[in-house]
Amino acid sequence: MSKVLKVGIIGSGGIAQAHARAYKAMDDVEIVAVADIVPGKAAEFIHRLGLETATPFEDHRQLLEQPLDGVSICTPNASHHRTAVDALRADKQVLLEKPMSVTLDEAIDMVSVSKETGNMLTIGFQPRYDPNMKTLQQIIQSGQLGKIYYIQTGGGRRRGMPGGTFIRKELAGAGAMADIGCYSIDLALHALGYPRPLTVSAYTSNHFGTNPTYHPDASHFDVEDFGVAMVRFEGDLVLNFKISWAMHMDTLGPTLFLGTDAGLRVTPAGQGPWSGVWDGGVDSISLFHDVLGHHTESPIPLRSHQVNLFYEKVRDFVVAVQEGKPAPIPCDEILRNQAIIDGILRSAELRREVTIELPN
Ligand SMILES: NC(=O)c1ccc[n+]([C@@H]2O[C@H](COP(=O)([O-])OP(=O)(O)OC[C@H]3O[C@@H](n4cnc5c(N)ncnc54)[C@H](O)[C@@H]3O)[C@@H](O)[C@H]2O)c1
Repeated sequence: MSKVLKVGIIGSGGIAQAHARAYKAMDDVEIVAVADIVPGKAAEFIHRLGLETATPFEDHRQLLEQPLDGVSICTPNASHHRTAVDALRADKQVLLEKPMSVTLDEAIDMVSVSKETGNMLTIGFQPRYDPNMKTLQQIIQSGQLGKIYYIQTGGGRRRGMPGGTFIRKELAGAGAMADIGCYSIDLALHALGYPRPLTVSAYTSNHFGTNPTYHPDASHFDVEDFGVAMVRFEGDLVLNFKISWAMHMDTLGPTLFLGTDAGLRVTPAGQGPWSGVWDGGVDSISLFHDVLGHHTESPIPLRSHQVNLFYEKVRDFVVAVQEGKPAPIPCDEILRNQAIIDGILRSAELRREVTIELPN
């Protein structure tokens, strides 16, 4: 058996449970510390999840003084930068929850600290582990579509707005974009090898979240619940991105990849008010192509969805740390995802196209 990895968890709220359960299911990992700024919350978490070997802390810096190999950061978006930088500088390998950060400057700094310290910063985009994502990536990278010039992705929920920290700009940075939009952007761009974004022209609004008819916490809602953007990339590629937490419509359309030789249509899985966004699951993949001059639609067989995506993402991190492998979902790749979100918010505020500046 490989060395037993000692890990800590920073932030013991909702998603931390998925990390804890995944680590607990591995016999080569020991959770030795949990930190949460709310007094007593880490201790209660340890007790509730049966993590007898873990010590609770109220300050993540105390947790980072422990001899840990890796940490999961599961705090609200606004503290991702501070906690990740502190962890990297404390010589820990880091699995950070999505989205990477609140601002692009923070994300740039995080990449630079990861490089400077030589410690891994991987971002937790578990939808990548859906088996159908591999199929999609294989089709796109096979070249069957020819030159891909247009992507449409994102999607919309008829009514599916979260609450808590997700709807407050000072904690989340962005709304639907940071919650679910980052997934669709990641899935599409990962399949294409993460091309470099150049410019963004965007519009956002929050007509539903700020209306007490639709959201019980409307008076605290100050992020976007809808956004649409046109993003240009290096290589003469354009992305039409749209995302909605709520709307008076049943769909904002499927994800599409248009190429010079073929097109690919991906429809998201799920039904009901919280579905309609491409954030991992796939209902269908169809290839549109010409066969002997006939317009042909070929359904692509789907793989089983029976995969514990959270376990896979945490396991990939553990194996990368144990075997000294590169970050499974590298932060310098996700920097481009964050740059698009940042560009969308800036463009929407300025009401004009903006340029995306990224370090080389
Ligand atoms: N990958 C996914 O599917 C997924 C799902 C939900 C949330 N998330 C992400 O996980 C993060 C947390 O979301 P959540 O729903 O678990 O939120 P949450 O509010 O339930 O939990 C966050 C916890 O972090 C604690 N905290 C805040 N600042 C801290 C700090 N500086 N040090 C230590 N603890 C601190 C809070 O007290 C709280 O207990 C967010 O970034 C969110 O986007 C990811």
